[in-house]
Amino acid sequence: MRLSQLLFSCLLLLVLPSALQCATLEANYLRCEYLVNPLAIEKASPSLSWEVAANSRAAVQTAYQIIVASTPEGLSQNQGDLWDSGKTPTNRTNQIHYAGEGLTARQDCYWKVRVWDENGAVSDWSESAYWRMGLLASSDWQAHWIGFDNRRLNKNKEFQLPPSPYFRKTWTAKGKIKRAVLYSTALGLYEARINGQKVGKDYFAPGWTDYNKRVYYQTYEVTQMLHSGDNAMGFILANGWYAGYTGYAVLVRHPQTYAFYGEIPVLKAQLEIEYENGEQEWISSDSDWKVNTGPILEADLLMGESYDARLAFDKWDEADYDDTAWKVCRKMVGAMGKVEASPGVPVQVVEEIEPIAITEPEKEKYIFNLGTNMAGIVQLRVKGKAGTKIQLRYGEMLHPDGRLMTENLRKARAIDTYILRGDEAGETWIPKFTYHGFQYVEISGLSERPEKGMITGLVLSSLTPQAGHFESGNKMINQLYTNIVRTQKANYLDVPTDCPQRDERMGWTGDAQIYMRTATYNTDIAAFHRKWLVDLNDAQFGNGAYPNFAPLAFHRPNTMYSPGWMDAGIICTYNIFKVYNDVDIVQQFYANMQHQLELYQTKSSDSLLPDGAFDEVNPQGGYGDWLNQDKTPTSKMLMANIYWLFDLRLMAEMAEAIGEKEDAKDYQIAYRKVQEAFLEKYMGGDGRLKENTQTACAMALDLDVLPPSYKTTVAKQLLQLLETNKGYLTAGFLGAKHLLPALSNAGYQKEALELFTKKGFPSWLYEVVNGATSIWERWDSYTIENGFGGEQNAGMNSFSHYAFGAVAEWMFRHLAGIDMLDSGYRKIMIHPEPNATLGPVSASYHSINGEIKSAWSLKGEHLQLEVTIPANTTAQIWIPAEGKDLVKEGNLPLSKVEGISKQEMIGHYLVLEVGSGQYRFTSMGVGKSLPAVKAP
Ligand code: BGC
Repeated sequence: MRLSQLLFSCLLLLVLPSALQCATLEANYLRCEYLVNPLAIEKASPSLSWEVAANSRAAVQTAYQIIVASTPEGLSQNQGDLWDSGKTPTNRTNQIHYAGEGLTARQDCYWKVRVWDENGAVSDWSESAYWRMGLLASSDWQAHWIGFDNRRLNKNKEFQLPPSPYFRKTWTAKGKIKRAVLYSTALGLYEARINGQKVGKDYFAPGWTDYNKRVYYQTYEVTQMLHSGDNAMGFILANGWYAGYTGYAVLVRHPQTYAFYGEIPVLKAQLEIEYENGEQEWISSDSDWKVNTGPILEADLLMGESYDARLAFDKWDEADYDDTAWKVCRKMVGAMGKVEASPGVPVQVVEEIEPIAITEPEKEKYIFNLGTNMAGIVQLRVKGKAGTKIQLRYGEMLHPDGRLMTENLRKARAIDTYILRGDEAGETWIPKFTYHGFQYVEISGLSERPEKGMITGLVLSSLTPQAGHFESGNKMINQLYTNIVRTQKANYLDVPTDCPQRDERMGWTGDAQIYMRTATYNTDIAAFHRKWLVDLNDAQFGNGAYPNFAPLAFHRPNTMYSPGWMDAGIICTYNIFKVYNDVDIVQQFYANMQHQLELYQTKSSDSLLPDGAFDEVNPQGGYGDWLNQDKTPTSKMLMANIYWLFDLRLMAEMAEAIGEKEDAKDYQIAYRKVQEAFLEKYMGGDGRLKENTQTACAMALDLDVLPPSYKTTVAKQLLQLLETNKGYLTAGFLGAKHLLPALSNAGYQKEALELFTKKGFPSWLYEVVNGATSIWERWDSYTIENGFGGEQNAGMNSFSHYAFGAVAEWMFRHLAGIDMLDSGYRKIMIHPEPNATLGPVSASYHSINGEIKSAWSLKGEHLQLEVTIPANTTAQIWIPAEGKDLVKEGNLPLSKVEGISKQEMIGHYLVLEVGSGQYRFTSMGVGKSLPAVKAP
């Protein structure tokens, strides 16, 4: 029911003589394991969540009732034959585990919830939601792994790029179809088709995992795609991450450069049909399926795709196609590991971009400019003679003479080829099994000058629902934020990758842990990151270290980890716990995380990691503050010790959250010991850090590893360091993220603002000044003076690298001031740092409890702050104020305002404790004491 309807029913109740009270709450956005109506859940007690909306302030859920029924009819009659939780007194709305009847494979679970408010009034039932159980045991699969050995059909002289096999199967429906569900997966990549149409909208299924340990299957409702009589199902396969080229293996002349998991892509599919008469029929992949190779001549994630339209088999995925010339399939050895339901979110086209210009810097090489950096593919529309070969090359930037810049792709060939069949009506092509990172597409092979309509950019990304919004009064800052979101989109592609263009595109763990909190503000990444945490734990080394990237396609045992990177196993798990109040994930990987900490312990001497503790890894000691600008960079071991301390603190909190109280105590004790040793070794007698670098100071402050008495001096040290560098940063990948929070937390808001609004090199806005539409790997990926940075930089020069975009965390937490005091945003903190430079700032964040908003603006000397706190949560709001009586809400003095339970002045802030609702505060006369710097 919508709120307007709710109000209407309340009015009705007023005039009806009834003992019923008016319900003020509404439960909505029901999800199971973070997904809306998922089709394959394998957990015996999946976790359920909803959000509560209210039409009054300080609304609280005091109880809930969940009903889970095996049929929609049962649910509509409120019969929870699977589970009726009964009225359960609690304000919890998420991480609630199903606790009903045992669930079997393919079990349909229809559910809804109602909630009670603080007056005991009960809401209406929510709209109904759904989940279905997956295939729980290997015996639920009848399908066999089938494949076709295409290796010898490779025609490429330089690379192993065999043609894609096409599989097909026909059958006749036995009667009226009630329901059909397709379960499918591959080792490699696949596209499923039924009766001439693509099934679903996903790209790159089944995603990237450590295929030796597990592979995910997808589940599609396909009832509408089938019809009476004859039906056909088809699959196209490609090597993908399984058998194709991955990462920089070619570049470094790794003994193996492709086929890291296996050499031949294989398929497993099971279409389960339920007829109206109750009969069941399964169409399963088997040796009676037909196979052939056809128009897809090459298909590789890094190298690109080639398609010869003259070889296309028309209607090959329809029933009446004549496949007598096709071969029969072979049963193949399939996955070594488990076949599990995909827990993540699919990759799909999330945006379409039209070119803004075409240039011709070299004869008959046309460059289409899409206007922004992106990851994905293009749709090509062409008309021409049969056999015409069109080549598409991709680049992120242009050389000064207008030619495509491809040096930074290194060994990723990134070329697509289309050979026309000569259709007079024109022809359209979209590659299926490759993607590129680019802004420019160079097209050659055309007989005449093209029109812009020849291509459309199709942006591919994992479907992580938008959660955040950020806008300031400054265009450059807004551009920076847009660039951050765009770069996240380009790199949250099944795994959190470092970059989408060159021969890497791997789940680099350091980048992931630095950036992840920012990602949580931008989109809902719970399901996406929980999937990657499985990859990360699957890749953990025997000594406990988490690797430099996950999945770990190529192994160099015991040298592929580094402090700052391997800590991702603990930090990323903690982030999921913290942001979504998810203790399941902590339980799931607790032992693994402990193992990582044991490694630090083993390597330590007298409670500190000594110099040389990571000498076995490559580069020696680890990556340190990668890409820093320091003359003398921060020592790798200082950073390793800070990470160790940080991990210990996070582990203590997580242990507490899952009830491991003894462990929590032990971690706290260990923390104090390491901290003592750290102070002894790294602090000078003057209270400053002996290592005089921005990164050392910023990390020590922001990761909170110093006792309070040290913080003031170290913050001053950081200020001095900035001053001596003309206010510019020197920090690298790991350090940069901590600079602004360290300054803000120490009360240096003006100085934080000064650093944030710098425009010269190196700074966040420097890229914006230089026309960036994304976040670059290096501050100097491109400089006016030095172009692309000369020889040594050309290869390590990604223009889509999110790590430095981690600044958005500070933008949300400090500029807009959206934060929390607990885990899972139940106790919210609104603590903006308004200033006379960047306003008005307006941000919102859709938390697991609903929408939080903080928007401030200056009206002359008065500050206005609009805040939204979702129902069933409370908040602490910090309003810069000259005094208690100088703040109003609406037009009322605070004492008259409903929803505010406490108010006190702390320094220059008035701190309020409030319940849910929308508030509009005015803080009179505070404008003159707010920091101001020159606007960028
Ligand atoms: C990646 C990074 C990564 C780094 C390790 C690079 O090649 O692109 O982002 O963290 O290696 O230092």
